[in-house]
Amino acid sequence: MPVESAYTYKTAEEPNEKTRLDDLHIALREFQNSQKDFAPEIYAIPPKRILDMGCGSGAWAFDAAKNFPDAEVVAADAAETLQESSLPGNMRFQQADVTKPLPFEPASFDIVHARLLFIHVPNAEDALRRTADLVKKGGWLFIEDIDFYKAIQTGGPTVSKVLSIWTKIAESRGADPSFGSKIEPVVRSMEFLSDVRVQKVMIPLCNASSASPELAKVGAGVRLTLARLATDWGETFTEQGITRELAREYTSEMESGSFDIFLENDFVWARRR
Ligand SMILES: C[S@@+](CC[C@H](N)C(=O)[O-])C[C@H]1O[C@@H](n2cnc3c(N)ncnc32)[C@H](O)[C@@H]1O
Repeated sequence: MPVESAYTYKTAEEPNEKTRLDDLHIALREFQNSQKDFAPEIYAIPPKRILDMGCGSGAWAFDAAKNFPDAEVVAADAAETLQESSLPGNMRFQQADVTKPLPFEPASFDIVHARLLFIHVPNAEDALRRTADLVKKGGWLFIEDIDFYKAIQTGGPTVSKVLSIWTKIAESRGADPSFGSKIEPVVRSMEFLSDVRVQKVMIPLCNASSASPELAKVGAGVRLTLARLATDWGETFTEQGITRELAREYTSEMESGSFDIFLENDFVWARRR
């Protein structure tokens, strides 16, 4: 993927990034499993074909392949993040860029999932529509994404500063780091979708004592992953102002517990009519 890509993180081909995504997946899975009403209808179909768009390390797709051994699971990403030889028999990898026409038949998947993808891509609304069009009649679209601006509003001064610089870099590449909170209106505007369900979760990055244990664990996981990202950014975006020293201050501010810092994560699922 070229350096000027809208995607400002390292890709999951890098071992540290793979670990970051796998750890975050486990925390989010435990949180979702702890919610009795979390999207039970999605998996009740039962699914024959499942797509994970922007799969990264493939953690979500590996789980889907295990949970639905009779389904074919396609993990897709713009970067070559998975090797065919490491995949179970019912899972395959497909290189696909969600900003371009996709190499899949419209209406060909029972479940189409994308997590932490659309905040990173230019023209996210078009990309989301293109992705939603892959859902079969009666199947489910399931999108999970973040609104980084909420963290800028709630964060301590250094967290706000670093995230403001990062969001400007992402915006200059055409991405919308607040897209998580725009998923619901975009999904509701798609007439071929119905039964739109939404959960907006404020993830506490510190001072999580009022959160459930599972949500506090997601918060701790996200805090760790943001610290790892800041270290990466301190190597890549020094000229834009994210120096290694600033990245270190940002991490200690999050760990200090002196500020209430929240990140909004929107979970949206909808059925194709
Ligand atoms: C933050 S990671 C999330 C990975 C995975 N969905 C998860 O939740 O663990 C974002 C992923 O989106 C991929 N990506 C970025 N731009 C993309 C594009 N235009 N088309 C498809 N994938 C893209 C990246 O390569 C990366 O693997």
